[in-house]
Amino acid sequence: FNIAVPYNEPVLSYAPGSPEKKALLAAIHKAKSKQSELPAFINGKRVLDGEKVSVHPPHEHAHTLGHFYRGTKEHVHQAIDAALAAKQSWADTPWHERAAVFLRAADLLAGPYRARMNAATMLAQSKNAYQAEIDAVAEMCDFFRFNAYFLQEIYREQPLISPATIWNKLEYRPLEGFILAITPFNFTSIAANLPAAPAMCGNTVVWKPAETQIYSAVVIMELFEEAGLPPGVINLIYTDGPEVGDIVFKHRDFAGLHFTGSTGVFQHLWKEIGTNIDKYRSYPRVVGETGGKDFIIAHKDSDAEQVAVAMLRGAFEFQGQKCSAASRAYISAGLWPAVKERLLKDMNTLKMGSVEDFGNFVNAVIDERSFDKIAKYIDGEKKNPDAEIIAGGGYDKSEGYFIEPTVIVTKDPHSTTMEEEIFGPVLTVYVFEDNCWEEALHLVDTTSPYALTGAVFATDRNIIDHATKALANSAGNFYVNDKPTGAVVGQQPFGGARGSGTNDKAGSALNLTRWMSPRLIKENF
Ligand code: NAD
Ligand code: ALA
Repeated sequence: FNIAVPYNEPVLSYAPGSPEKKALLAAIHKAKSKQSELPAFINGKRVLDGEKVSVHPPHEHAHTLGHFYRGTKEHVHQAIDAALAAKQSWADTPWHERAAVFLRAADLLAGPYRARMNAATMLAQSKNAYQAEIDAVAEMCDFFRFNAYFLQEIYREQPLISPATIWNKLEYRPLEGFILAITPFNFTSIAANLPAAPAMCGNTVVWKPAETQIYSAVVIMELFEEAGLPPGVINLIYTDGPEVGDIVFKHRDFAGLHFTGSTGVFQHLWKEIGTNIDKYRSYPRVVGETGGKDFIIAHKDSDAEQVAVAMLRGAFEFQGQKCSAASRAYISAGLWPAVKERLLKDMNTLKMGSVEDFGNFVNAVIDERSFDKIAKYIDGEKKNPDAEIIAGGGYDKSEGYFIEPTVIVTKDPHSTTMEEEIFGPVLTVYVFEDNCWEEALHLVDTTSPYALTGAVFATDRNIIDHATKALANSAGNFYVNDKPTGAVVGQQPFGGARGSGTNDKAGSALNLTRWMSPRLIKENF
């Protein structure tokens, strides 16, 4: 059995008249022509009970995509029981058979599931066709294929010395117990990878998604099933997060948390786990990828056009609802007029509206809570004498949760929009004097509690090297002369430090080893 080095799934273009565009439009039409009943999946059974909640596209309140049923505490117990019951047989399944399930899932996703997964992500999470393709197809395929390959490398590697008459080996067992995966709304691929990565390593999982991502989560479960995942290995439930935590974090067999979401929620969960630490059979693994306040800093000698394009794409693709999205920029005064001119020119061409018009670059933000929070930050800056809104600033939630891409220029490098995660299409710019490069680097490093992604723009090698060193702890993913977004699995393993997470690099061997408990076996012969 040999898994070859994978390739990254090609991102299709969705050009007018292309077969992929026709297939996607048909899938969107089919999804919109019915209201789906969205079941939880417990032990392979579809469960439809609990409080009925309707699901609407964030860009179209008037349409109903379907309903899910908010789960009960009983669902949590059932999901844990199912995960524990499925554990032994799944852990005993040879690693390459477990990996093969996810390799089949990748092939199904690249083929017959492609249009459906994209349509679900576009409609329920308001991503345009290109963004859905990058997330829900390319990145998800890459997670499955690269993790299968990394798993092989881990299992095959035996780095131990075995002197004559002794055989030393490491056995990479799964963790003892079950894993809880708690996933965010904003990336369908992350939602799939958080239960899939521990499962590939022989663990069984209870998966609680964000409510706004349930519509695409159901497609993921159907994909896993069709790929041959046995019942009970991944159990998808819709019980409220605190109720899930209340049961899981007191359970003796809780073995680990795989979380992606906001920093505040992760810190809260870690505290709960800490409070219950004496209840567990083993110390749980706690892996979390959390918030960000991602930066761009441009030296006076950098290429203004390159900087402007990075600002626009880095801040406004995916409505800025990407953990890696640029939300604060530090631009040298001598460079700023050219950057500003190009940025505003390009922003004038951006179209905003429904995902069903493929020409729309900007779609809706996820929900009312998110909309209100972003609007409040924009309103705060409208009243701030130190701030000027040079683009956007408008918002409207009458038909969908639309917020214009907004650029704020501030005189205060410590303003709230420079420091706090907004998680929306808002970029705040601080223009520093050309001779204040050191001070600007210091501001980047000290202004926010996060360290997820960041980008430096400069042309001189010494300046690049110096900035790379000065910002060593400011970002888990650091980009030179590129936007701070768009990490590709297998090329740029992703994760942040400080308040941005445990930095276990999603889509890498580092992440997989967190879901293993190695046993050393020494045998004399
Ligand atoms: P969120 O923290 O609001 O929710 C994340 C998940 O936690 C959801 O499933 C939610 O229902 C659940 N949850 C909330 N409170 C809970 C509780 N008390 N107990 C148990 N579960 C609970 O985050 P979100 O709005 O879905 O996603 C946006 C956030 O995720 C942003 O902060 C973003 O930066 C972050 N994010 C980080 C990465 C990364 O790789 N670092 C990737 C994507 C998103
Ligand atoms: N892979 C996504 C990015 O880097 C999260 O933007």
